[in-house]
Amino acid sequence: MNKNILLCVSGGIAVYKAVALVSKLSQAGANVKVIMTASARQFVNPLSFQVMSKNDVFFDTFDEKDSHVIAHIDLADWADLILVAPATANVIGKLANGIADDMVTTTLLATTAPVWIAPAMNVHMYDHPAVKRNLAQLAADGYQFIEPSEGFLACGYVGKGRLEEPEKITAIVKDFFSPKSKPLLNKTVLVTAGAVSVSMDAQHVIRTKANGKIGLAILEEARTLGATAFLVGENGATVYDLIEEIEQYKKQYPHAYFIHAANTPTIEGTPKLSVEGTSAVIFGQEVIGEPMLTVVSHEWIDFSDVAEVKGHVLELTNAVQFAKALWTYVLLGEDK
Ligand SMILES: Cc1cc2nc3c(=O)[nH]c(=O)nc-3n(C[C@H](O)[C@H](O)[C@H](O)COP(=O)(O)O)c2cc1C
Repeated sequence: MNKNILLCVSGGIAVYKAVALVSKLSQAGANVKVIMTASARQFVNPLSFQVMSKNDVFFDTFDEKDSHVIAHIDLADWADLILVAPATANVIGKLANGIADDMVTTTLLATTAPVWIAPAMNVHMYDHPAVKRNLAQLAADGYQFIEPSEGFLACGYVGKGRLEEPEKITAIVKDFFSPKSKPLLNKTVLVTAGAVSVSMDAQHVIRTKANGKIGLAILEEARTLGATAFLVGENGATVYDLIEEIEQYKKQYPHAYFIHAANTPTIEGTPKLSVEGTSAVIFGQEVIGEPMLTVVSHEWIDFSDVAEVKGHVLELTNAVQFAKALWTYVLLGEDK
């Protein structure tokens, strides 16, 4: 696994396990660098991480060791994957709210690499509505989680909140980088998301209602599965602009998967999308041409309810889970 893993360590009792995690990841062939919060340094001396990773440990945003680069941007760009382990309730809350007041949170906001969060805390902290709200926000923002396991907690309680074992986290990371977990590698995916408007006459437009969460989750999951994925049109785009943009993309990427998750007006006279030449999955829009893969439904799908994909009924209440399930079923039987 010749990958660059950036480990962000925040201040929980499980920091000692993060040292073992660096060791396991290094043994698995990863290049590991570590950033620590000030609280994390209360638990373990940075020297332990330095020795295990054979790299400098970072903790001060303003300590610029190399004058050629800005350290947090350099680290954010260097990483193929960022793990936040252990992730405290505090760091989860800051990330969910876009706060960047130390080296860990500043780097997390500066990266485009996938970020996995491994929460570890007291069971009541984990159950607190504010923490749950923040975790839900991070899930909606596309972050992945390594769920805490159940067992004896250092605080004396028994319950969910233990940082997952370093061996298990390392196995998940190895699996993530294995080519078989990237079925969309070298594929192009085009996704529409959100609302669409269409002119009725010179003075009036009809605009559908949609927040775009489903389409964006499908886009993010496609990227996780290795695709080069593009969002086509912006939220509220006119149907004419959308169609023009799709046609341009289709010329550029003739074998793209096309996922139409935007809420397109269905009034008479609305121009139709052509999916000819693409592998298309369409939600509730009449189309011209023979889609190569499947048209999920010609009926309108209410995104607040369920959708049927290749005979499987999928819940739509959680956009991220839906996107994962959608790709699983879309890729069933596909040539890899
Ligand atoms: C002994 C001890 C253990 C702690 N364990 C945890 C923990 O497991 N999870 C957590 O979220 N906070 C824990 N905390 C509280 C955090 O250290 C505290 O919220 C801190 O502000 C987190 O800062 P950071 O997120 O910047 O690392 C613990 C504090 C102490 C004193």
